[in-house]
Amino acid sequence: MSFPDGFLWGAGTSAYQIEGHHGRGESVWDVFCRRPGAVEGGGDGSRACDSFVRWREDVELVKELGLRAYRFSTGWSRVMPDGVRPDPKALDHYERFADALLEAGAEPVLTLNHWDMPSALTGGWAERATVSAFAAYTEAVAGRLADRVTWWITQNEPWIIQLLGYQLGLHAPGVADLGTAVKAGHHVLLGHGAAADVLHAHPGVLAGSALSLFPCDPATDSEADRAAATGSDGYVNRWYLDPLLAGGYPADMREHWERALGHGLDFIQDGDEAAIGGRSDFLGVNYYTRRVMAAAPPGPFPWRVVGPSGDVARTDEGWEINAGALRDLLIGLSRRFPATPLMVTENGGVFGDTPAHDGQVHDNRRIAFLRDHVAAVGEAIDAGADVRGYLHWSLMDNFEWALGYRPRFGLVHVDYATGARTIKDSGRYYARLIAGGGAAPALPRIEAYG
Ligand code: FCB
Repeated sequence: MSFPDGFLWGAGTSAYQIEGHHGRGESVWDVFCRRPGAVEGGGDGSRACDSFVRWREDVELVKELGLRAYRFSTGWSRVMPDGVRPDPKALDHYERFADALLEAGAEPVLTLNHWDMPSALTGGWAERATVSAFAAYTEAVAGRLADRVTWWITQNEPWIIQLLGYQLGLHAPGVADLGTAVKAGHHVLLGHGAAADVLHAHPGVLAGSALSLFPCDPATDSEADRAAATGSDGYVNRWYLDPLLAGGYPADMREHWERALGHGLDFIQDGDEAAIGGRSDFLGVNYYTRRVMAAAPPGPFPWRVVGPSGDVARTDEGWEINAGALRDLLIGLSRRFPATPLMVTENGGVFGDTPAHDGQVHDNRRIAFLRDHVAAVGEAIDAGADVRGYLHWSLMDNFEWALGYRPRFGLVHVDYATGARTIKDSGRYYARLIAGGGAAPALPRIEAYG
């Protein structure tokens, strides 16, 4: 199994989830977290991992793990506190941070929108004007960092923004309206196009969007279940892949949305699809699990998630662990879009392990998860997929949005009361794996206590 030279082994985080407030502008997440019951446990990102202050420690962790890449986001509400004017001090910070990463031997992978939009941009993605605000923010960040950052992710997970932020109201800004959601999703994609155009004015920069991709499998071989899987794939995956990489929205899903909304999609204006497509230098793949689909009665969503059912391996969040689906996803994407390099920009799982009898975090299930998913990426590469990197989610435990601080995704444990970081066994395992070029190292031995 061969990972190419220069393969970007890394891990990721995002600004709101780790930085803490420290003088940034108010973001839509600050507002959303104040809603009673919006966040499990009632937390917010005001302190998080305190990374805005402890960033040097984070870079030390990157170095200690031997990461070749680190994905982070610039806080939109930190860079543009009022949504309009950039704060030079915030840009100074990210310049220092990118320099420190490069010095540590890690390629910075910079995300522009990891959900912490300034609350001053009223209406959020439901407003078309947000597209130009996002382009202006991109301009401010690129003006400072495009000379040292090659990999840029414009939008993180358009479907999740659309679904949780505007359709179900479970994420900021907490809107629950189907029509607004589809419109907002379109504006997010237009934002990708506008940001990519800004970035491409800088030589050598690579721009892509990170999509949350969920392979959709039919529960049975029946025609109805197979149609449900195709519909779900259109809803979750193709609605974003096709305008980014295949020239426009898929016809079957356009019809689906027109049926579901009871009217035409007039917010998709002439020229919009041309302004979204043809601008991705790579595709970011965020993969966590798959969806097993069955037919549902006619309605806005004639499909439903039914599985997998039964005894399958699951994370502590109940998500099926299925590395083979990642391999097949990467191979399928590379066959469909042979000109577009892929990067696994997120992959990980919730495993709640905390320090044990010896003060160490023996997160053996994360080790197995990591081993199997890295092997799956290797198999995809061997089968011809053009995969440039693997970024585990996450470098460290952090604020997991509406789920608060309970789910732990990190290679590094964070004690939220003190901010203390402890590299978990999985982090040490990953360091050995990276040092060996991707070959699976021996599993760690846990010494008995006493
Ligand atoms: C993704 C998000 C990321 C994190 C992981 C677990 O949807 O991009 O910030 O919450 O899920």
